[in-house]
Amino acid sequence: MLSVKNLVVDIDGSPILRHISLEVAAGELVCLVGRNGAGKSTTFRTIMGQRRPVSGSITLEGRDLTQLYPFAIARLGVGFAPEESEVFGDLSVADNILLPTWTRQTSRSVDEREALAYRVFPRLERYRTRGGQQLSGGERKMVSIARALALDPKLLLLDEPTEGLSPAIVPSIVEGIASILQLGHAVLIAESNMHHVPDFADRLYVIERGEMVYAGKPNAVPKSLSAPNGPDGE
Ligand SMILES: Nc1ncnc2c1ncn2[C@@H]1O[C@H](COP(=O)(O)OP(=O)(O)O)[C@@H](O)[C@H]1O
Ligand SMILES: [Mg+2]
Repeated sequence: MLSVKNLVVDIDGSPILRHISLEVAAGELVCLVGRNGAGKSTTFRTIMGQRRPVSGSITLEGRDLTQLYPFAIARLGVGFAPEESEVFGDLSVADNILLPTWTRQTSRSVDEREALAYRVFPRLERYRTRGGQQLSGGERKMVSIARALALDPKLLLLDEPTEGLSPAIVPSIVEGIASILQLGHAVLIAESNMHHVPDFADRLYVIERGEMVYAGKPNAVPKSLSAPNGPDGE
C-alpha cells in the first residue's frame, strides 16, 4: 500500500535521510525504530508532504505522493498523529476527534467514525463534551490518535504514541492500536525504544542516523541493535 523507495531528505543543506526504503502492506502493523534524532519524524513528515525529498519515491497504492500537499495526502487516506499531540483546548473532545471528517468523506458516516474512535479508546466517550484543556497527557495522546483514526484512513502514521506517558496508561494506548488493526487499517508506528514495539507487529525497520540498518521480522533483530537506546546507548 505504502511504498517508500530510496528517500533522500536534506534539511538546511544537511543530509537527514539517506536512501530510506520501507513498505507497509494493507492491514499491517509496521514499526520504525530509532533513537532520538535518527530521522523517524522527518520520514513521517516527508510522507505527509510537509517536507519535499531531494530524491526517491513515495507511493500510496501506486500513486506518487511527493508532489502533493498535506491535505491532499490526508484526503487520499493517510492519517497522521504527530509526536506533539495538538489537541485544541477550546474545542470539546468530540469536536477535536471529528475535525478530519471535514477533510475526507468515506463510506462510513460521521457518527460511525466517532463511535469507532470510542470503541478504540472507551475512556474518551465519557469525556466527549469535556474541553481539550482538561485532559491528561495520556488522554491527549488518545485524542490525537482517535482524531487521525476519524479520517477513516487506509494507513495511519503514529509518531511515538507512547512517548512520555506514564507506564500505567501505555497498555490502553497499545490496546487501542490493536483494535485499530482489527478494524482493518494499516498502521506505521515510530518508536524510540525497541522494547516498546508491540509484540503483534508484522515488520520492523531500524533507522540510525538517517540510514536503514535493519528490515525484517521483529523477533530477528540483531542484539547489537536491540539495546534500549541502540548500539551506542545514550
Ligand atoms: N526543522 C528542523 N531543522 C533542523 N534540523 C532538523 C529539523 N527537524 C529535524 N532536524 C534534524 O534531523 C535529524 C532527524 O530528526 P527527527 O526526524 O526529528 O528524528 P527522530 O524523530 O527520529 O527523533 C536530527 O538530527 C534533527 O536535529
Ligand atoms: Mg521524532
